[in-house]
Amino acid sequence: EMPWRKDWINPDAHGAGNQGDVMERLKKRAYEVWISEIMLQQTRVETVKAYFTRWIDKWPTIEELARAEPEDVLAAWKGLGYYSRATRIHTAAKKVVEDDAMKGLLPMRPEALEKEVPGVGRYTAGAISSIVFGHAVPILDGNVARVLSRQLGLYSNPKSKVTTDLLWAAADRLVRSAAEMVLESQANDGSRRSSDTEGSEGATVDDTGADIARSETPGLWNQALMELGSTVCTPKPVCSKCPIRESCLAYAEGELLAEKAGLLP
Ligand code: ADE
Repeated sequence: EMPWRKDWINPDAHGAGNQGDVMERLKKRAYEVWISEIMLQQTRVETVKAYFTRWIDKWPTIEELARAEPEDVLAAWKGLGYYSRATRIHTAAKKVVEDDAMKGLLPMRPEALEKEVPGVGRYTAGAISSIVFGHAVPILDGNVARVLSRQLGLYSNPKSKVTTDLLWAAADRLVRSAAEMVLESQANDGSRRSSDTEGSEGATVDDTGADIARSETPGLWNQALMELGSTVCTPKPVCSKCPIRESCLAYAEGELLAEKAGLLP
């Protein structure tokens, strides 16, 4: 049902105290999410599946990718388009493996991902750090932008800088409050698992108040928003199936206009 969940940081599931295995697992997962999210930026999920599987069969680790021939990397990308993305992935893999400071690991924090990894922008950095490492950072793609624009009742051009700034800010607030609310309710009902705060010892807000504990909520939240935008809140939305239509300003406006026009029973 939610196959990515089983990969979430859960030291217990990897044998008590075996931190090495957990790190290996995270390293592999970060590599996979990096490759798949770059592929998904330009291509539908159904098409990406076969490309992704072939890629991982060919280069199961970032070390193997770093050793690949450039023409093999381009061949594996053939049909996906935007070949500079494949080239930048290869360049980045070599950097991560060969740079002594990086030790073969993709950075965990979004700022470091954007800064250190060629081809990784805010979207991919947000995807890796929320889905793999549990940081409460947003991701905004075209689908999420549509969901949030409708929820907020925006009319402005979704591609303009003021609007994308606003949408990133909205996505940021939402993912933080989602993570905070889940942690609070788990604390209240005593159901919080060690895997939800691993490495941050249960703190919900750091000393600057800017960050909250790592948990699986941000990755699930971000992916749920993308999924909602690609299945329900599509360009021709299916509002009857939407779980959040009661808080949607675009939906409310549509209802109001329909009522005014005498179109409602
Ligand atoms: N579209 C692109 N990446 C996605 C993800 N991680 N989850 C759901 N939809 C996506």
